[in-house]
Amino acid sequence: MEAKIRLEHVTKSFKDTGVVLDDITLHVNDGEFVSIIGPSGSGKSTIFQCIGGLLQPEKGELFLDHRKINGETGNIAYMPQQNSLLPWRTVSDNVLLGQELFHKPDKQEAQKWLRKINLSDYQDAYPHQLSGGMKQRVAFLRALLSPQSVLLLDEPFSALDEFTRFDMQKWLLSIWEEKQKSVLFITHNIEEAIFLSDRIYLLSPRPAKIIREIKLPFRRPRCDQLLMESEFLALKREIYSDLKAGGLHESV
Ligand SMILES: Nc1ncnc2c1ncn2[C@@H]1O[C@H](COP(=O)(O)OP(=O)(O)O)[C@@H](O)[C@H]1O
Ligand SMILES: [Mg+2]
Repeated sequence: MEAKIRLEHVTKSFKDTGVVLDDITLHVNDGEFVSIIGPSGSGKSTIFQCIGGLLQPEKGELFLDHRKINGETGNIAYMPQQNSLLPWRTVSDNVLLGQELFHKPDKQEAQKWLRKINLSDYQDAYPHQLSGGMKQRVAFLRALLSPQSVLLLDEPFSALDEFTRFDMQKWLLSIWEEKQKSVLFITHNIEEAIFLSDRIYLLSPRPAKIIREIKLPFRRPRCDQLLMESEFLALKREIYSDLKAGGLHESV
């Protein structure tokens, strides 16, 4: 299968912190859902900033569809870790922001998707009027409706309670199955990564190296029962012990 995004031997250091990414090689195939699990502070968001062109690695290469994109912005739809909604724009105008950057705002499509995610009553509201879960859905929708074919999601559900989180995971999968984007998803939640992904990369603590790549054997669409299956639970234990052997941080 064709790789949509590929990182080859990417190394990145910061002056104060030292080496953060140490020879990272990974890829996401076209239409694939891939997660990165790693302890906090290991360098996960730094990987995304390199892919998004906000940071330049000092060594290694990044490719989109075989084209080198080191230091180039605008290629990727990116939902950053912190809530990035603009407080002075309505929900609907926030959703359209990604499209506006490409001069192609499609208000009807935004309205259709706001209906699908039960937010049409809020299309003219401002971000401060929304709950945390609603804000996450809006930020996610904005990334999803951006025209790029690759979506980077940086711990999108970490601020949500367990039940909302699970609903959002199922919601994300249903939308992803419809849109067929290539997704790279960061989390420190093992269960979440197994439930959502086709493949998972495990990262060591800083300086981040890839300690293992795991292909998930579970059929799609994924359903609630999967969380209780013995194969799922065994994998969860295995990943936990791999991360522990690699130097587990208590936040995982
Ligand atoms: N711009 C920066 N300058 C210096 N150090 C940074 C910068 N960005 C991140 N770091 C450091 O790099 C390490 C990895 O950060 P980050 O990629 O945000 O980790 P994660 O997303 O896995 O929690 C941390 O120690 C962080 O303090
Ligand atoms: Mg981070």
